[in-house]
Parts: sequence; structure tokens; C-alpha cells
Amino acid sequence: MKLISLLLLTGAPSVLANCKCTPTDSCWPSASKWKGLNTTVNGALIANEPLAKSCYAGIGTDPSQCQEISKIYDLTSFRESSPIGYAYPVIETCAPVNGSIAGVPVCDLGTSSVYSVNATKPTDVAAGIKFAKENNVRLVIKNTGHDVRARSQGYGSLSIWMKHMKPELQFQDRYQPSNSSCQSNWTGSAIVVGGGYIWKEVYAYAAKHGHIAVGGSSEVNIQLNDHVCMTLLTVCLQTVGAVGGYIQGAGHGPATHDFGLAADQVLEYKVVLASGEIVIANDCSNVDLFAALRGGGGGTFGVVVSATIRVYPTRPILKHSFVLAPPSTNLSTLMNATASVLSKYPALSDAGFSGNAQITRKLGSKTIYSHNFAKMLSPNVSSVKLSSEIEEAKRVMNRQLVDFLRPLNGTGLTVISKFEKFDTFQTYFASGTHESAGLNYPSPAMVSRFFDKQSLINNHKNITTMLKAIFPESNSKVQAIASLLELSLVGGGEVLKPKPNTAIHPGWRSTYLFMENFDVPPADSGLQGVRQVRQYAISKKLNAMKAAAPGIGTYMNEADPDDPDWKEDFYGDRYEWLTSVKQKYDPEGLFWCYRCVGSEGWEEITGPTLYGPLCKAK
Ligand SMILES: Cc1cc2nc3c(=O)[nH]c(=O)nc-3n(C[C@H](O)[C@H](O)[C@H](O)COP(=O)(O)OP(=O)(O)OC[C@H]3O[C@@H](n4cnc5c(N)ncnc54)[C@H](O)[C@@H]3O)c2cc1C
Ligand SMILES: *[C@@H]1O[C@H](CO)[C@@H](O)[C@H](O)[C@H]1NC(C)=O
Ligand SMILES: *[C@@H]1O[C@H](CO)[C@@H](O)[C@H](O)[C@H]1NC(C)=O
Ligand SMILES: *[C@@H]1O[C@H](CO)[C@@H](O)[C@H](O)[C@H]1NC(C)=O
Ligand SMILES: *[C@@H]1O[C@H](CO)[C@@H](O)[C@H](O)[C@H]1NC(C)=O
Ligand SMILES: *[C@@H]1O[C@H](CO)[C@@H](O)[C@H](O)[C@H]1NC(C)=O
Ligand SMILES: *[C@@H]1O[C@H](CO)[C@@H](O)[C@H](O)[C@H]1NC(C)=O
Ligand SMILES: *[C@@H]1O[C@H](CO)[C@@H](O)[C@H](O)[C@H]1NC(C)=O
Ligand SMILES: *[C@@H]1O[C@H](CO)[C@@H](O)[C@H](O)[C@H]1NC(C)=O
Ligand SMILES: *[C@@H]1O[C@H](CO)[C@@H](O)[C@H](O)[C@H]1NC(C)=O
Ligand SMILES: *[C@@H]1O[C@H](CO)[C@@H](O)[C@H](O)[C@H]1NC(C)=O
Repeated sequence: MKLISLLLLTGAPSVLANCKCTPTDSCWPSASKWKGLNTTVNGALIANEPLAKSCYAGIGTDPSQCQEISKIYDLTSFRESSPIGYAYPVIETCAPVNGSIAGVPVCDLGTSSVYSVNATKPTDVAAGIKFAKENNVRLVIKNTGHDVRARSQGYGSLSIWMKHMKPELQFQDRYQPSNSSCQSNWTGSAIVVGGGYIWKEVYAYAAKHGHIAVGGSSEVNIQLNDHVCMTLLTVCLQTVGAVGGYIQGAGHGPATHDFGLAADQVLEYKVVLASGEIVIANDCSNVDLFAALRGGGGGTFGVVVSATIRVYPTRPILKHSFVLAPPSTNLSTLMNATASVLSKYPALSDAGFSGNAQITRKLGSKTIYSHNFAKMLSPNVSSVKLSSEIEEAKRVMNRQLVDFLRPLNGTGLTVISKFEKFDTFQTYFASGTHESAGLNYPSPAMVSRFFDKQSLINNHKNITTMLKAIFPESNSKVQAIASLLELSLVGGGEVLKPKPNTAIHPGWRSTYLFMENFDVPPADSGLQGVRQVRQYAISKKLNAMKAAAPGIGTYMNEADPDDPDWKEDFYGDRYEWLTSVKQKYDPEGLFWCYRCVGSEGWEEITGPTLYGPLCKAK
């Protein structure tokens, strides 16, 4: 806190009048005002303390409690259970002393919210909004805290914490619009999902009703030191929030190829507006808001308290697992072969395959390419027809990919290919990992890009050049101890078809592959080291991706927040329209997050700490 006060005094005193109040300012609400808010929300107001406070000298120091915290600090389950737990704490201001990316030995809340409303009903949300507005306090919306762009954090903020907003899930055999005079085109089933649910819960509920929900793809969290996950796989099915930032920003996963993006599935939202009003947004009411909340990004237009989403009868699945392993640590053969594999992605996608691949580079272990792809098969067909469908799918995969690479087997590379059939989507999903396995640390350095058909086929030279820039012969250049390239073949198919009343980045409508690279800085790198790793990733890796796939953009939910071309890259040509919706529903800019729609009106006055008060931009 000291640093901040100093910064303010020496920094920009003239803007102070136009800033949100922070705890060091005299305009910060008094204890009795906070008590008043607590009464309004029936005791659900939480005053936050840094999670690892017990590891630091001063009030609250406690070695044994510190040891306990150190053990669970990286667990997703622990982070999620806290109103200030974030999966990607870009700025770590109170790590357990021996925790990762410790940086300087200070302990304060940093970008964590000062108070949180533990909301369980829409009126709690409205009370938090009203309080923030009346007292000029920065407001953030926090669900799981998985955001990689720190959009659910904010220095000196009050947060609306959605985790416990969990009215019972409702299955509708046939969708019933809240507004009964609203005719819907959708004649299938739907589930009403409260703001606090995570995908694993929605998947399980949909499966109980014999249906598939379109959600996220990670089975095991990126943080593999999550020993709960490792010993009890079922506990860590997809932990991303269902109807928070994920769905509002687009949402890709194992079912998107077949049914469209997650945002495409929304039939209606219940939303608390900046005015405190609670409204329904669907094809009939508040249509512009409905569209903005389907791709325009979380934390921007209002607080979603529930969403009604389409679900689909379950299907049998054919899974294909594939590994390409080079004989040595020389990456050149693997990169060349990977470029060939990528050139086959559009054909495999057009034949119905989708899923995730990854290349992980870690000191002391071999760098390999591996994927788990799946093809959804027809429901309710005779076993003869199903068998022939499976044979045809195998034939396509073998002809396109496996036979093509088989000549390399045993020479420069080892090629492993395996098919497996599952009776339902849920048994397939529970069968193994669909995303990165192998990174042991949260990574604040990530760059990403969309790839369309044209950028993948007949682009071997450019793709190889890009892969070599991502995995240079010596990783010491990158200054990272590990790198992961995540290749999500989640586009194509239904994703390519634009849906009415959505605001999804148009780049998605030509995307087959979404590519992300994560670099892990050494544990002791501190802020400066992390910054160097990010800078290298943006200047070398992201630029190489952009050169291989120019002009398509990237996925706002999984991108570097400091991408210099953020407006176009995150929103495509929808930005201006989204700004008009923001103006209409939140004219005062109450909902603010970095590089969210309408964020230009405000800026964080930061100094060496990288965080500070939110002020009106001059
Ligand atoms: C382990 C992991 C796996 C992932 N896997 C996938 C994946 O498979 N597919 C994919 O598409 N993405 C994936 N993501 C990215 C994910 O889409 C983003 O992290 C997303 O922002 C998470 O949303 P959240 O609500 O859970 O997180 P939060 O950090 O809590 O919120 C993210 C943003 O949404 C806002 N927000 C949250 N709740 C609400 C609400 N109720 N109303 C309005 N705004 C709200 C917040 O203010 C913030 O701006 C993954 C991320 C992680 C960490
Ligand atoms: C809010 O009230 C509850 C119940 O009285 C109490 O337990 C909690 O500590 C209060 N929160 C704050 C921030 O004072
Ligand atoms: C932190 O590291 C020091 C030195 O390596 C060690 O002595 C201490 O026990 C560790 N503390 C915790 C909480 O792990
Ligand atoms: C938040 O509220 C829920 C529901 O009332 C409660 O179970 C939970 O313990 C609360 N969490 C915190 C951290 O206060
Ligand atoms: C409903 O279906 C009609 C006819 O197919 C189509 O023109 C219209 O765009 C659809 N409306 C919505 C909101 O999907
Ligand atoms: C319900 O839908 C009708 C017809 O589309 C619309 O005119 C009306 O405003 C809607 N009512 C509400 C409460 O949203
Ligand atoms: C890796 O292998 C390629 C092709 O065989 C060769 O040209 C290159 O020099 C090798 N690189 C290293 C660092 O050994
Ligand atoms: C790279 O891959 C192409 C196509 O698979 C192949 O023809 C070529 O020989 C490979 N080059 C090297 C250096 O391995
Ligand atoms: C398949 O059959 C089951 C049981 O007869 C039925 O409930 C289900 O709706 C059917 N699925 C499809 C997609 O037709
Ligand atoms: C590659 O060779 C190994 C060892 O001979 C064999 O087990 C494997 O099946 C081969 N892979 C393919 C795709 O033929
Ligand atoms: C490969 O990259 C070069 C340089 O950026 C570009 O001119 C060329 O069009 C690209 N090739 C393809 C097939 O996209």
C-alpha cells in the first residue's frame, strides 16, 4: 500500500478527482457504510485477506498455517473456493514464500478485490452494483477466477462473486421461453444454468438426462501438481465457469465442431444491469444485449445470473489417439512432421474429427506431438450402420494422416495410432485428458491465434517457420523453463455457420484450429523475468503466428492481454457495434475490465507495482 500512496503523490495528482476511490483515499467508504451493505446482502459481505498472509511477518504470521497454504496454494479447487483465488495471478503480491513466481517479498492484496459480495440471488448482485455506484468504488465480477487477462481482478475493488449463485439446475424437455409470447425456433431440450455452476457439473447433469452440453474441454487442469486431479480424475473435470466469461466470450470445446460455439447455444440470459434492473435478454427482449452477451466478452454489459442453453441427445464417439515422437532432442524433424500433420487438420475436421493436440517442451523430457481427437457418430442407428460409419471414419483418418506418416515410423520418428469407441459423450469425456498435460505451473505468458483452412493447407513452409520460432533449438532464448503449444481443433463444422443475434468474432467463422502457446518463466524470475518471457512471446512467437495466419484474429478468452492489435484481434469488426450496446446499457462504464469493450474511457494508473487506481482517461 505504501508504494501506491507514494506513486499517487509523485504520479498524477491532477487525475485523482477522476479516479475510483481506493482504500488509501479519504473518499473510501467508512466501516459503517460497508456494514450497511453487509446488512443489505444478509451478511454475505466478505472482507478479503491475502491468501498467504500467514507466511509473512506481522499480524497474522503463522508458520504452520503457512505450510498448509503452501501445500494447497496451486490447487484449482483451493483457488476457486476463495473470492480472491485466480488461476492466472499475473501479478503475485502475496505468494507463499516458497511458492512459484514469488517476486518481491511483500504481502498485500494487489489486484485482488478488497471486499466481495458472496452473491446467492439477483438482489445481492443489484445491491453490490448500487453500492459501487453510489460510493465511486471500482466494481468487478468474479466467477471462477480462471481468466487469463485478469478481467476478474481489480485493485481496490468490490467484487460480485458468482460462485454460490446456484439455483437448482432445470432440465426442459422442450425449451420454454420466459417470455411466453416469444416464439423460439428451437424445439429441442434446454438447461437453465445459474451463474455459479462449472462445466463439470453441467456435463454430469446433462448426461443424467441423456444429453450433451456444449462446454469447455480440459479434463485435467493445466496445473498437474493438482494432486487431487492426479489421484482422482473425476474430481477435476472441466473447472471453467459455465455461463460467466467462458460463454460470453464464445466458448470452445469437445462438442463445438458438431453443435457450434457455446455462445451459439444460449437461448436466453437473465441479467442484472448497471441500473440494478433485472431483465431477460433473448430473441424477443433486449435483443442487442442478448447478442452482445454472446461473444462480446464477460465483465462488460451486465451480470449474468443465469442462462438457458440448448442441449443435444447424446451420441456414440470414435476416439483417435495419436503420438509422434522423435528419437532425440533435436526438434527439427518433429517440427517438419508437425507442419504436415497440421496441413491435414481441415480434412480431418471436415470428416467430423475434433479435439486437442499438444507439444510440450520441458527440460529433461522428450518433446513429442500427441492428440486425442473424436468423431461423433449417429445416434440410434443399427449396429451394422454404426460399424460401417466407424470403418469409414477410420479409413479417412488412416488415409489422411496415419498412412501418410507411416513411412517415417522407425526412421526419424515413432508413430503411434489408436482408435477406441465409446457409447456416450460422457464416457468418452471421462476417458482421458483433452488438454495440456505436462505443465506444472500456472503460466502468465500466453499468445494465441486462429487458423483457417487456407493458412493450414499448402502453407508448409510458413507453418514450419512458425513452429521453429515457437520452439527455437535452444529454449534459453525464450528464457522459459517449459513451453506448451496447445492445438485445439475445435472449429470447422457448425462453428463456421454464423448464428443470428450473436457478436462472436467473425474470425471464428472461418477457424478450424485455435493455437495457444504458454511459456513458463523460472520460479525465481520475479516481475522483470516474467515480463521478459512475455515480451519474447509477443515479439517472436505471436508475430510468427500472425505471419502464418494473417488477419484472422484470436480468441479473446485465451490471448495475451498486451497484444498490441487487441481491438481487431479480440473483437474483429464487431467492436464499434459492441461499443454502442455498452453505451446503452452501461453509460457510466461501471463494469470495467482491461481491454474489454468500452474500456478506453478509463485507465489504471500503474507504476512499478503494475497496479493502481482506475481513473478517467485524459
Ligand atoms: C484451466 C482452464 C481451462 C480452460 N479451458 C477452456 C476451454 O476449454 N475452452 C474455452 O473456450 N476457454 C477455456 N478457458 C478460458 C476461459 O474461457 C476463460 O478463462 C474465461 O474467462 C473463464 O470464465 P470464468 O467465468 O470461469 O472466469 P472469471 O475469471 O471468473 O471471469 C472471466 C470474465 O468474465 C466475467 N464474468 C464472470 N462471470 C460473469 C457473469 N456471471 N456475468 C458477467 N460477467 C461475468 C468476469 O468479470 C471476467 O471479465 C480455460 C481457462 C482455464 C484457466
Ligand atoms: C457480514 O456479516 C456477517 C454476519 O453477521 C459476518 O459474519 C461478516 O464478518 C460480515 N462481513 C464484514 C465484511 O464485516
Ligand atoms: C522454504 O524454503 C526454505 C529453504 O529452502 C526451507 O527451509 C523452508 O522449510 C521452506 N518453507 C516452506 C513453508 O516450505
Ligand atoms: C458463500 O456463501 C455460501 C452460500 O451461502 C456459503 O456456503 C459459503 O461458505 C460462503 N463462502 C464464504 C467464503 O463466505
Ligand atoms: C428462425 O428461423 C427463421 C426461418 O428459418 C430464420 O429466418 C430466423 O433467422 C430464425 N430466427 C432466429 C432468431 O434464429
Ligand atoms: C415479450 O415478447 C414480446 C414479443 O416479442 C415483446 O413485445 C415484449 O416486450 C416481451 N416482454 C418482455 C417482458 O420482455
Ligand atoms: C537437427 O537436425 C537437422 C536435420 O537432421 C540438422 O540440420 C540440424 O543441424 C540439427 N540441429 C542440431 C542442433 O543438432
Ligand atoms: C519435411 O516434410 C516433408 C513432407 O512431409 C518431407 O517431404 C520432407 O522430406 C521433410 N523434410 C525434412 C528435412 O525432414
Ligand atoms: C434415440 O432413442 C432414444 C430412446 O428411444 C430417444 O430417447 C432419443 O431421443 C433418440 N435420439 C435421437 C437423437 O433421436
Ligand atoms: C510404428 O512402429 C512401431 C514399432 O514397430 C509399431 O508398434 C507401431 O504400430 C508403428 N506405427 C504405425 C502407425 O504403424
Ligand atoms: C507465407 O508467408 C509469406 C511472408 O509472410 C507470404 O508472403 C506468403 O503469402 C505466405 N504463404 C502462404 C501460402 O500463405
